[in-house]
Parts: sequence; structure tokens; C-alpha cells
Amino acid sequence: EKYNYGVIGLGVMGRNLLYNIADNGFSTAGFDLDEEKVKELHNGATPGTQVKGTASLEDFVSALETPRKIILMVPAGKPVDAVLENITPLLSPKDIVVDAGNSYFKDTERRIADLTSKNLHFMGMGVSGGEQGARRGPSIMPGGDLEAFTLLKPMLELIAAKVNGEACTAYMGKGSAGNYVKMVHNGIEYAIMQLISEAYDLLRKGANLNNDQLYEVFKKWNEGEMNSFLIEITRDIFKQKDELTDGFLVDQILDKAGAKGTGKWTSEQAMEIGVSIPTIDIAVTSRILSAYKEERVKASQLYAKEEIIKPENTELFIQEVGEALYLATLISYAQGLALLVKASEEYQFEIPLKDVVKIWRGGCIIRSVLLEKFYSAYTQAPDLSNILLNQEISGIVQSKIKSLRKTAAFAVSNGIPSLGLQTTLGYFDAYTTESLPVNLIQAQRDYFGAHTYQRVDREGVFHTSWQNVNN
Ligand code: 6PG
Repeated sequence: EKYNYGVIGLGVMGRNLLYNIADNGFSTAGFDLDEEKVKELHNGATPGTQVKGTASLEDFVSALETPRKIILMVPAGKPVDAVLENITPLLSPKDIVVDAGNSYFKDTERRIADLTSKNLHFMGMGVSGGEQGARRGPSIMPGGDLEAFTLLKPMLELIAAKVNGEACTAYMGKGSAGNYVKMVHNGIEYAIMQLISEAYDLLRKGANLNNDQLYEVFKKWNEGEMNSFLIEITRDIFKQKDELTDGFLVDQILDKAGAKGTGKWTSEQAMEIGVSIPTIDIAVTSRILSAYKEERVKASQLYAKEEIIKPENTELFIQEVGEALYLATLISYAQGLALLVKASEEYQFEIPLKDVVKIWRGGCIIRSVLLEKFYSAYTQAPDLSNILLNQEISGIVQSKIKSLRKTAAFAVSNGIPSLGLQTTLGYFDAYTTESLPVNLIQAQRDYFGAHTYQRVDREGVFHTSWQNVNN
């Protein structure tokens, strides 16, 4: 009896995805270089499901029905290439290999070319939702090979999260679009996490809220228009007691953020193809800055902070911080989605933006009720270059902008770091300004380097012999 699906990489994500596939009625074989993981595989499976751990890559390959459908869930980079190198000689023409990790899209392009030349199908597929998502329903972002996609689609729709009965998976476009969309998802994830951490800082330092009060604030936020996975888990974090002290765990966690690279790739990509996504950029660099803990400690002794002047009305302050966070979150999505629009042109991905926001509504880390509004915006205008240009969205923005200004101003005047909020506000102000002062930059460029400029009143390219007025 041959197995329907195979999963390579039985870490937390791979194992859970495998169980999810098995729970939906498919027999599934798993392989991992770590023998323990293979041995333990059946322990976590739902009784009655068909799950098999295989001891070697050869056993794994021969356990699968053809064309084989193999899902890789191994760390991005060299491990993926290592698996591909070992497995491709064992495969038969038309077999399908799906990379479900956070692979860099350019690696995926290279692998597509390589495997296609061997008459195999290779697909890059983003999967979001962490451990629970993988098991109970992630958001799944497949792209590329249409033949492979069509074969996998029924299974993907079964294992994906559901919103209003609709599966959170759809074809994300050609080539490595699936990985690209997932990369941008993570960039947005970085931005939102940065913004939430700043809201937390403002509430604890600005309004002296303790963890119990923070729990209540986030609970309330999560019950309204700010409802989202990241707000929900933040709420719960403030309740978690520490096992080693009698305090809260969050207060014992060292303030140095880690990163595995997807946020950085998003920023690099945006620079490469010329898209302005400063909230994501600042979120990446804020994590980098956080790691200078020792230097920050020294600098904090050298540069004393001004005393924080508490807000007069705490309730109002909390409300404004909430609105500022909501709006800055919205603008972070706007930046990420604008990057997808440009990338779609640049790389001919043909990314369906409407489907992207649709499948992000459930299962993934950045799921939020706000995405419902984006979904209707893209339903009206699928080619919207920036979500901020939508009429309904502009109404939301206008109703919150004052709170973002007041909150950013409070942070600035009290010396509370708020790189994300300030940057987002700066982006918004620049994006919505008809005339920016870069006419002066163009003049300077032409002055010192004859780089030329365009005029507002006539067509063409101009250069001037600028006069040094002191000569
Ligand atoms: C997801 C997450 C997932 C992973 C992040 C963490 O969508 O399920 O994004 O892919 O947890 O990549 O990234 P960092 O380690 O870079 O914060």
C-alpha cells in the first residue's frame, strides 16, 4: 500500500503539517535525518490516521504513490539544497517536490530551473501560522508550477484554515511568487510586532500600566476592530507568570530580538526594486539595534532621559495609543502590499492581491479583521497600487490620524523610543503630500554633478550652469 503524501523534515512545523494532512484523510509518510524524530512520529498522530516514519530516503521515496507528492519542511538555505541533491536521483519523471519553508525566492527560481530540467515539478509554497497553524489550519501560499498546484489544491484546501467556510489558500502567482508573498507577510509581521512593542512601551512608561492592566487593555483591543492574532497573543503574554521568580515572565525576558532573515530580505527587496516600505525597514533595524544591549546600557548612563510627563487623562491616552497602533498597522500592510504590486510587475509574478489578503484573513501570523476591509477594497479595484488610495480605507485613516500624531508627539517629547510609529507617520505625511522638497535635491544634483532635472511647466530634461554667487 503506497502513501499519498510525503513530508521531509519532522521538526515542529513539518510534523504538525504531516499530521494535519493525515487528519484530512491522506496517508502520509515522513522522513528526517534525525532517527528519533522518525521513531516518535506516530506518537503524535491522531488514532486511526495513516502515518508512517521511514528510516531512509530510499524507503521514503519507495513508500510513496506516483507521481510522488513530497513536501519539504526543512530550514531555508543549504538544508533545502542538500535534500534536493539527495532526493532527485531517486525520483521519477513528473514527481512533485514542494518547498514549504521560508526559502528565499531567488533560491526557489534556481531550484525550479534545476528540477524542471530533470523533468520534475518544483513548487515554492509559503506556510504561515506557527505550530498550531500547521496542525489545525495554516494560511498556505503556493505559487509557480500550475500542474503541481492543480494536483495539490484539493489537499491544500482541506488542511488550510477556513474563514467563512473558505479555505485560506490560493494560487499566488508564477515562479517563486509563493515564497515572495510569504516573505512580505513576514516583513509585515515584523512591522506589526515592532508597533505593538512600542504601544506596550508607551503604556508602561507613559501611563505606568502594570501587566494586569496591560492584559485588560489588549483584551479590550482584541474584542473590537483591532482583533488580530498578534494582539491576542500579546494579551496572553501579559498573563504569563514566571516559573523561576514570582513575577511575570515578560519582565524576565532579555530585550534583544532575534531574526531569521525574512524581514531583512523584504527590506532588501524593496530597496532593490524601488518600493518605499519604511515601517518594515525600521522594524528590521530596530531588532538589530536591540541587540546592542551593552552599548545601550552605557549610553543610557551617559545621556540621562528627561522625566516623563504623564498624560492628563489615562483613559484617553490608552485610546489614542490604540488608535495609533491600529492606523500604523494598517499603513504597514499598505507598504507590504505595495511591494507585492511592484514585485508582481518586476518579476511577472501576476500576484492576485485580492487573493493574498483573502487568504491572510485566517491561519497566518498577521491575520486580523482589518484584512476583511482590504479584501473588499481589492474586490472593487484589483489593481490598486496602494491600499491608502481606497475611499473606505481613507475614511478609517482620517478617523485615526490625530491619535497617531498625538501618540508620536507624546513619545518624542518624553524621549520614549518609537521608531515604528514615527516612521509610519513620516511615511504617511510624505505619501500624502503633493509637493515634496525634492525639487531642491534635484537642483543640488544638477549643480554638483550635472545630473539633470525635469520641470513642472514643460516636458523634457534640463541642465543648468548653476552660478556660484560668491564668485
Ligand atoms: C509564520 C512565521 C514563521 C516564523 C517567522 C519568525 O508566518 O508562521 O512568520 O515563518 O516564525 O519566520 O521569524 P523571525 O525568527 O525572523 O522573527
